Formats: sequence, C-alpha cells, structure tokens
Amino acid sequence: MKKGIKVVLAAASALLISAPAFAFHSGGVGECEGCHTMHNSLDGVAVATGMPQYQAGPYLLKAQDASGSCLNCHNANETTGGSYHISSNSGDYAAGVAPAEYTPGGDFGWLKKTYNFSIRNNPTSDPGETHGHNIVAVDFGYVADSRLLTAPGGSYPAANLACSSCHDPHGQYRRLANGTQARTGLPIFNSGSYNSSADPISGVGAVGVYRILAGVGYQPKSLTGSYAFTYPAPDAVAPSTYNRSEATAQTHVAYGKGMSEYCANCHTKMLENGFTSGMKGLVHPAGNGAKLTAPIVANYNAYVTSGIMTNTDPTKAYSTLVPFELGTADYSVLKPLAVNTDDKDQSASTSANVSCLSCHRAHASGFESMARYSLTNEFMTIADSAGVAQYDSSTTEGKVNYGKNVAEQTAAYYGRPATAFGPYARNLCNKCHAKD
Ligand code: HEC
Ligand code: HEC
Ligand code: HEC
Ligand code: HEC
Ligand code: HEC
Ligand code: HEC
Repeated sequence: MKKGIKVVLAAASALLISAPAFAFHSGGVGECEGCHTMHNSLDGVAVATGMPQYQAGPYLLKAQDASGSCLNCHNANETTGGSYHISSNSGDYAAGVAPAEYTPGGDFGWLKKTYNFSIRNNPTSDPGETHGHNIVAVDFGYVADSRLLTAPGGSYPAANLACSSCHDPHGQYRRLANGTQARTGLPIFNSGSYNSSADPISGVGAVGVYRILAGVGYQPKSLTGSYAFTYPAPDAVAPSTYNRSEATAQTHVAYGKGMSEYCANCHTKMLENGFTSGMKGLVHPAGNGAKLTAPIVANYNAYVTSGIMTNTDPTKAYSTLVPFELGTADYSVLKPLAVNTDDKDQSASTSANVSCLSCHRAHASGFESMARYSLTNEFMTIADSAGVAQYDSSTTEGKVNYGKNVAEQTAAYYGRPATAFGPYARNLCNKCHAKD
C-alpha cells in the first residue's frame, strides 16, 4: 500500500463493508488528495510513486501518469480478488498463474500474460497486449499497445489511453431524476451504479452516471487535438458485490442501453448504422437499434451447450459470458435485475439488443481481442474418456487452450469449471446463432 493514501483508504474500506455507495468516489469526485498531492510530501516523506520528494507527477498526481494515480488504489497484489480491484499483479509472479480479479470489466493483469506455445508443433504466440485496452501506467508496468496505434474504427491515440480516457476522474457526469445526464448542476450525492444506490431526487440531488464514465463533451486536459465524446455514458446497474467467482452463481450487470454508443466515442465506425442481412460493407450489429430477432431470442433462451437446446427455465437462460442490453434506461427495471444470484427471470426478449459487451469486456480478458470467451478455436472444452467435459491440458496441441493451463482457463471463464459448458462446447457465438 502506498504511503499517504493510507488514511483515505482506511476510511473508504471501513465504509465499503456496509455501503459501497458511500466509499471513495461516491459517484462524483473523491477527496482531491486521493489522487493529487500538493507538494509530494506527507509526514516528511514522498507520497507519489516513482517521483522525488517535493515533485509530483503531471497535474500534481500521486503517480507518474494519470492511470497510475488510479492504480494506487485499484491495483492489488492478491491471489483471490475482491471489491473494487481491477488490476492484479498476481499473474506476474509465475508462469501459469492467472490474474485474480473477476469484475465485469475484467482484470488488466491479462495484458501482462503473453503465451508462447505450439499448435501442432508450430511455435506460436498469444501476446498479452491483445487481451485488452492497454492503459499506460509506467509505475505499474503497463505500456501502450505496439500494434494498434489508434482506436480501430476511430482515431483516439493509443499512447494517451488511460483510465481517465474513459472514466471522468472528477466524476462530473450525473444522472437526474428525469433520466437525463448533465455535466454540471444538481450535486451528486450518491453512486448511480449499484442496485443499492439511491435514486436521484428532483430539484435536490443527482447520482453519478454508471461507473463515473465520461459523457458528452469529455476530453482529458492532457490530450491535445479534437477527441471530445459525442455520446453519453451508458445506462446500466451492477450488483453491489461484483468481484467474485461465477462458479456457482453469476454476477448479473443489468445493461440497459447506450453501451455500444459509448464505445463508439472512440470506435466510431464499429457502431451499427442500419442493418440489412447479407448486405456488403456492414459490421456485426451492435447498438440500441440492434434488436435480437425472434429466432435469436429462442436460441438464446433454449441454449444449454452445443447440441443441447432444451432449456425452458427462464432463470437459467442468461449467461454473463454473452450479455445483452435490456433496451431500457428505466432504473426501476434495471435495479432489481442487478443481482449476483441466478433466481430471476433474466431471459432474452425481442426488446433486448446486441452491444459491444455481448462479445467483449471493457477492460481486459484472458482472450484475444478482449473477447469474453475463446474464439481462437471451434471448441472451448474437450472431454475425457468418460465423456466428462475438461479444459484442455495439452502442452503440444495447444489449439483449444492457447497456452493456458487448466487453472488459467478456469480463471479466464471467471471460475467456471469445464462442466459448466459441457463436453466439446463450441464457442458462444452459438448462444445466439446455434450453428451446429
Ligand atoms: C480519482 C482521482 C482524482 C481525484 C479524486 C481528483 N483528481 Fe484532479 N485529476 C485527476 C487526473 C487523473 C487528472 C489528469 C487529467 C488529464 O490527464 O488531463 C487530474 C487533473 C486535475 C486538474 C488539471 C486538469 C483539469 O482538468 O483542469 C485539476 C485542476 C484538478 N485535477 C483538480 C482537482 C480537484 C480540485 C480535486 C478535488 C475536488 C481533484 N482534482 C480530485 C485525478 C483526480
Ligand atoms: C484513494 C483510493 C482511490 C483512488 C486513488 C481511486 N479510486 Fe476508484 N474507487 C476507490 C474505492 C474504495 C472504490 C469502491 C467504492 C465505490 O464503488 O464507489 C472505487 C470505485 C471506483 C469505481 C466504481 C464507482 C461507481 O460508483 O461505480 C470506478 C469506476 C473507479 N473507482 C475509477 C477510478 C479511477 C478512474 C481512478 C483514477 C482517476 C480512481 N478510481 C482512483 C478508491 C480509489
Ligand atoms: C476503454 C474504456 C475504459 C478504460 C480505459 C478503463 N475503464 Fe474502467 N470501466 C469501463 C467500463 C465501460 C466499465 C463498466 C464495465 C461493465 O459493467 O461491464 C468499467 C468498469 C470499471 C470499474 C468497476 C468494476 C468493473 O470492472 O466492472 C472500475 C473500478 C474501473 N472501471 C476502474 C478503472 C481503472 C482504475 C482504469 C485504469 C486502470 C480503467 N477503469 C480503465 C471503461 C473503461
Ligand atoms: C477513450 C477511447 C476509447 C473508448 C471509449 C473505447 N476504446 Fe476500445 N480502444 C481504444 C484504443 C486507443 C485502442 C487501441 C489500443 C489498445 O488496443 O490498447 C482500443 C482497442 C480496442 C479493442 C482491441 C483490443 C486488442 O488489443 O485487440 C477492442 C476489442 C476494443 N477497443 C473494444 C472497446 C469496447 C467494447 C469499448 C466500450 C466498452 C471501447 N473499446 C471503448 C480506445 C477506446
Ligand atoms: C447477443 C446475441 C449475438 C451474439 C452473441 C452474436 N450475434 Fe451475430 N447476430 C446477432 C443479431 C441480432 C444479428 C442480426 C440479425 C440476424 O441476422 O438474425 C446477427 C447477425 C450475424 C451475422 C449475419 C450478418 C448478415 O449480414 O446477415 C453473422 C455472420 C454473425 N452474426 C456472426 C456472429 C459471430 C461470428 C458471433 C460470435 C463472435 C456472433 N455473431 C455473436 C446476434 C448475436
Ligand atoms: C458478435 C460479437 C462482437 C460484437 C457485438 C462486437 N465485436 Fe468487436 N470483435 C469481435 C471479434 C470476434 C473480434 C476479432 C476480430 C474480428 O473477428 O473481426 C473483434 C475485434 C474488435 C476490435 C479490434 C479490431 C482490430 O483491428 O484489431 C475492436 C476495436 C472491436 N472489436 C470493437 C468493437 C466495438 C466498439 C463494438 C461495438 C460497437 C464491437 N466490437 C462489437 C466480436 C464482436
């Protein structure tokens, strides 16, 4: 733990136990001193990571760059993840050890997991940098992507990608009682992200937008050029405990609407703009208008695993590995569905839509292109001689596991054992398309 943030953190985590909403950011800007230091000096010693005393990072940050000022609190050295940690260095210690955090956005530690392995005896590699958004944080060993110099489908420079590219560090965006978002105005008195969050009160107070994400007009001061966001923050609600194994029950974020539009702030050309099946020049449907068709809804809800399309229980239809947006910004609908139990009807309907997060995570994942599941092989699992589903432990064939051992495959699927998928389970495009 870094010096100087001790006090803030102790207070934050004490409160966290009972009410996450009243912790550090509280849906808006936290204490200035959580991220900034005026002289880089506290109790006579330096507080900023990697900086000499009496000299702070840029903008008087407590780290050498913006992302480092977040990771001071959001990174952890732990083998079992928890709470608001979204980056672990557990995976750095030894080959074969997976990052520990299981948040909906994913653990940035996967960016440091490069796998060198053989497929049918041909040496190949799965570079860590393909596993997510390469935020730059020199104090924590995160560097810019070497292949993608700008956001594909847009122009946002990868060299400037930081936590504060996507989240407003000053948490200015707020949701008002009438459902609109604003950057200024009524004070933010609570996080707006959780099933337990307060609702905004007309004329009295606002809540933070989902995950203090940035909205219309946002551009970090440190970024020169014209990259201001044109779409608002998405509407969604997370359960208040959201960083946990999904081996026995899933962590359901109730995604409402606007996530793909939000991503399109940087990946402009990847948003669906009108869809006619079979037409050239289109991208996979994603966005508020990309509704699930009736046959896709039927596949989604019936799918158990490859070849088994027999589910009729609406509480078992949903998979957090293939989420969809509910197509609403009504928080009275979203909040009750943001739970970490599997006992509600979370099944798909034709008012739901595909979003970027139907296939990708927002931060990082164990797979190429930040996908939620492996797309590098037809199968995600194999079977033993008794026909029981197994993750692939092969060190020579490599095509299913892509260099990961069984523990890492389990972690990449958020603690799910291979039996959660069944033997020879094809990848989860089939949850919607059932092509087998
Ligand atoms: C959660 C971390 C965090 C907190 C809390 C925070 N800041 Fe910042 N602040 C940042 C980051 C990161 C930047 C750099 C933004 C960039 O790269 O342009 C910054 C930049 C600034 C800047 C210069 C750039 C600008 O946007 O004007 C000022 C002034 C500033 N902060 C003031 C404050 C004040 C005052 C508070 C308390 C009310 C505060 N900050 C709280 C993270 C934080
Ligand atoms: C002093 C410690 C500290 C620092 C520095 C810090 N955070 Fe946090 N952050 C927390 C704690 C504690 C929570 C959990 C409580 C909560 O969910 O509000 C949290 C929660 C969050 C959440 C979820 C909040 C919500 O309402 O949904 C986001 C997003 C986040 N932090 C982003 C950032 C970013 C981006 C930065 C850097 C600009 C940053 N944090 C810096 C301590 C910190
Ligand atoms: C490319 C945009 C982007 C970047 C970069 C980014 N975030 Fe996020 N973050 C998101 C989105 C979107 C979510 C909501 C994910 C969800 O609910 O599926 C999120 C969620 C979170 C959460 C809630 C836990 C979770 O994983 O769902 C925290 C905490 C957080 N971010 C902190 C950070 C910190 C700290 C950094 C930098 C190290 C960072 N984020 C970088 C977009 C981003
Ligand atoms: C602030 C701009 C910004 C936002 C917002 C943003 N991205 Fe990105 N994204 C980038 C940049 C820059 C890159 C290229 C650098 C990299 O891959 O790290 C990138 C890369 C990617 C990649 C390729 C990863 C790889 O290495 O192959 C995917 C997939 C992606 N983004 C999906 C998303 C999704 C989904 C969202 C919305 C949740 C989103 N992005 C929001 C800037 C952004
Ligand atoms: C959440 C549901 C969902 C998931 C997951 C999904 N798709 Fe789709 N897909 C759709 C919808 C909705 C359409 C448009 C309606 C239709 O064609 O029936 C579509 C259309 C398509 C089309 C046809 C495009 C056209 O011009 O007709 C292809 C090809 C496709 N998807 C491939 C994939 C692949 C590959 C994956 C996995 C990487 C995937 N989809 C995952 C929902 C999904
Ligand atoms: C149906 C699943 C699916 C959906 C929905 C989806 N993607 Fe992708 N995305 C993929 C796959 C699979 C790849 C790997 C490359 C490929 O197949 O084109 C990918 C690759 C990417 C890349 C990396 C491209 C590169 O040049 O390396 C980015 C960036 C990206 N997606 C962003 C987005 C954004 C933004 C959205 C929402 C507007 C989105 N994706 C929606 C499946 C999807």
